[in-house]
Amino acid sequence: MADKRGFPHHMLKEIFEQPQGLRDTVAPRVSLEKGLVQLDDVRITVEELCSVERISIVASGTSRHAGMAGQFMIQDLANVPVEVDYASEFEYRNPLICRNELTIVITQSGETADTTAAQREAKAKGSRTIAISNVMDSTIAREADGVLYTHAGPEISIASTKAFTAQMAVLFLFAIYLGQVRGKLAKEQVQRYIRELLELPAKTETVLECASACKALADRYHQVEDFLFLGRAIHYPVAMDGALKLKEVSYVHAEGYPTGETKHGPNAMIDENLPVVIVATCDRNDAGSVLRYEKNVANIKGFKRQSARVIAIASEGDEGMRELADHTIFVPRAPELLSPILEIVPLQLFAYYMAVRKGLDVDRPRNLVKSVTLE
Ligand code: AGP
Repeated sequence: MADKRGFPHHMLKEIFEQPQGLRDTVAPRVSLEKGLVQLDDVRITVEELCSVERISIVASGTSRHAGMAGQFMIQDLANVPVEVDYASEFEYRNPLICRNELTIVITQSGETADTTAAQREAKAKGSRTIAISNVMDSTIAREADGVLYTHAGPEISIASTKAFTAQMAVLFLFAIYLGQVRGKLAKEQVQRYIRELLELPAKTETVLECASACKALADRYHQVEDFLFLGRAIHYPVAMDGALKLKEVSYVHAEGYPTGETKHGPNAMIDENLPVVIVATCDRNDAGSVLRYEKNVANIKGFKRQSARVIAIASEGDEGMRELADHTIFVPRAPELLSPILEIVPLQLFAYYMAVRKGLDVDRPRNLVKSVTLE
């Protein structure tokens, strides 16, 4: 029990360590007063970063989901086109590397065979690389041109939780940094984003208060065998990761899907037997977010007409969503690009409590290892 600090499982301990992981990852790299993000360990010159024409993000599992969120952050804040790929696909598909390409590889362990192989492939084809790793001096970090460490602390549970939120925070920092050096962001904008980043740990503490509500959801739904997780834009990777967590720790089939795509097939399955978990937060200061929120509301009304049970992750104070969905978990309001860091927490807790309710080995799910070092 000692190393679990009183928590029954590493997974729960690590979910609760997320505020600290975010603090340690963000605070040493920002100056609110100067409106500056400083990434000394990035080791790629400002001139090189200014000439980057395309970024490829390559990773596996949950780390790839962080990369999918990073794609929105980098495109929005630095205006650089970004592609995201599975490391296991990238390494065998003979990828085209363009002139002035930067490849970002993301891996908690730094030892995932597919991801280290993908980095070698990118480097062999002339790309500069940056590794995002949670382990100091890992293989991927040693071989990369630049490194951005997440400081989430050791992650023991096979399900990745605190590394994921720290990866998204680092990607956000990198997106600001890139926007800053390329002259896309004014000092005031950077200050505004830094302020929001620094508020995230406290907001995450608030989200953790929903643990008992997530446990109650697991008590209610533990016999269900299929779930659909939905999200739009940057919330889609959150849906994907919520589904992955549920699959890997509770062995329940779950699929992550872009909300708007349900009408192109999955809608046929949605009825009283297939609960829908939908990420439906709204940043009222972002016109795109408001539009997507309205679409989500219309989707939920449709799901209800089909007798579906809807579990919504919504923004604090959204009483309309409370009325509409069967269950609503609220997260504090945050800018659109930072909301995923808060939204994933209830989904991690739900997966955890589902596994506990089913009496499974939460920290060591069957057929899985923490770091896939052999292909
Ligand atoms: C996440 O919960 C999984 N255990 C798994 O998908 C993991 O993220 C993946 O294997 C990649 O690991 P890495 O971050 O250490 O490279």
